[in-house]
Amino acid sequence: MNGERLSSVDELMALLVDCEDAWDTPDRSGDPVDILDHGLQVAAVLAERHPDDEELQVAGLVHDIGHHLLPGDEVGHGEHAAAAVVGLLGARVARLVALHIPAKRYLAATDAHLVLSPESARTLGCQGGVMTSEAAAVFEADPDSTAAIALRRADDAGKVVGLRVPGLDCWRPVVERVAAAAERDRARLSGVVITWREKGWRDGDRSDSFQSTVTPREEVRPMNAVCMWVLPLPVTAGD
Ligand SMILES: [Fe+2]
Ligand SMILES: [Fe+2]
Repeated sequence: MNGERLSSVDELMALLVDCEDAWDTPDRSGDPVDILDHGLQVAAVLAERHPDDEELQVAGLVHDIGHHLLPGDEVGHGEHAAAAVVGLLGARVARLVALHIPAKRYLAATDAHLVLSPESARTLGCQGGVMTSEAAAVFEADPDSTAAIALRRADDAGKVVGLRVPGLDCWRPVVERVAAAAERDRARLSGVVITWREKGWRDGDRSDSFQSTVTPREEVRPMNAVCMWVLPLPVTAGD
């Protein structure tokens, strides 16, 4: 599954089924729920707290599939998951998925009452550690920061052994709606010229991270569509 790019809802659902009895750490020393159970719990929390934001709910459902795509990559698992779903679920879902780790770093810097699981606390350091105040200010200015923080808080709440939540079948129609909306967005943006390759990487801005592959609003030249930040497709993390 290394480098997989999901192209259909059926593929995604099959991958999520595979995430049952798959764990965030190969030796099962990490969080106490498997990746599927965790995703279902996170999605359920988000559905309750943000019932009108199905993209956010689906982002919660899939946010940790990177642990299964590339087992053992604690640092890159958000980016792997985002790259896998961007073509199917769209740029916003992918970005929220990618941001679930920076959001942890942000909350660690700004929420004195934040409670992380032992595994999340352990991996915080290798994922960049607590954000500096400067980085936190940049994160807050991101238009997706509020939703990313909501996902992160649900992430930290969705690790309860034995919790009963709606099963995967309940999420298929939601995933199908999000995928259909992403497809419509792609069609609408087909006239947009993405200039990120033309501009090249700015000095000092070269990074192999997924974040650097997300082009901000000003790097997209609208031709006949609503201007919005988009993810170049197909995404190649580190391209
Ligand atoms: Fe994660
Ligand atoms: Fe998670």
